[in-house]
Amino acid sequence: MQRWNVNLSSNDWQRHPEADSVCRSLIDGGLVAVPTETVYGLAADATSGTACARIFQAKGRPSFNPLISHLPNLEAARHHGVFDDRALKLAEAFWPGPLTLVVPKTEASEISDLATAGLSTVALRVPSGPIMRYLSEKTGRPLAAPSANRSGKISPTRAEDVIADLGHALDFVIDAGPCEVGIESTIIGLTDEHVTLLRPGGLAREEIEKVLQTKVRTPASNNQPEAPAAPGMLTSHYAPNAQMRLHARAVAPNEALLSFGVDPIEGRESALAEANLSPSGDLVEAAAQLFQAMRTLDSSGAKTIQVQDIPNTGLGEAINDRLRRAAAPRS
Ligand code: TXA
Ligand code: MG
Repeated sequence: MQRWNVNLSSNDWQRHPEADSVCRSLIDGGLVAVPTETVYGLAADATSGTACARIFQAKGRPSFNPLISHLPNLEAARHHGVFDDRALKLAEAFWPGPLTLVVPKTEASEISDLATAGLSTVALRVPSGPIMRYLSEKTGRPLAAPSANRSGKISPTRAEDVIADLGHALDFVIDAGPCEVGIESTIIGLTDEHVTLLRPGGLAREEIEKVLQTKVRTPASNNQPEAPAAPGMLTSHYAPNAQMRLHARAVAPNEALLSFGVDPIEGRESALAEANLSPSGDLVEAAAQLFQAMRTLDSSGAKTIQVQDIPNTGLGEAINDRLRRAAAPRS
């Protein structure tokens, strides 16, 4: 595995010789860990069945689970997906950014059946993280990229997390520091007359409702492991080694505490470890800290992580979704 450190605040990262090597690797079917504003992605050429198969193999991911394809802009995305008025409105309002649209796949799209899991729909995203957009533009390929972690584990928000989990399987890792949003993109389904929230994420539902002037529907199946609307939404997911306990009322000395705000909780002082997602109660900050905090508490060796309640508005919906999955019974 080769490593490329990118400093996004300087303008010449695109001219770095490593940029060419990474593009060549992708065109040759390589696996590259790429930072986006949400989480680090495990990227490969979405038009190559072999390259996509390598993603599934590296992640140990069930292959019925389709992948998101990343593109440099809306125009490139329209080659692969059919955009109705609603899709265009959302893309214009929120791309580049933490929003994925599931739309009907076009006849012309070269995205492989393995990336779409054989569905007639396709998940498309134009991230605001510039490296993924740049690599897609340069290679002329849509880039399939799930989060760069082994299936069912915590999503990575730093290059070190990726290397620890998947380093052996990668051709390149691009390190641009911690991800800004820290939680995966919101996935909106637009394949029928409804606007469906397939996965809450880094863009709040309220923002989408404001732009479309309509209610966003939550499929009941989001909470049913047997028939998830977004096939990747298996109940037990994002799992640390420790057991997560939601709605904490007290914490024992051998337990860890995932806290939020400054509400008092019994036993805090003697807990084995504590991470506060946002002492000031800011949900954007909490989303950005979530996965890192789970990793830190997990490495404290505690068998149980007690989790304080988090409001379910704005990005709180996505945070609570991830916490529920992390706390779900494991198979
Ligand atoms: O923020 C993100 O979205 C990150 C970064 C790397 O872009 N990517 C990510 O991908 O979270 P992944 O593969 O972990 O999640 C993809 C989700 C899965 O739950 C999958 O089932 C759903 O998208 N999905 C993909 N194609 C779909 C389709 N055609 N219909 C319904 N759900 C789909
Ligand atoms: Mg994931």
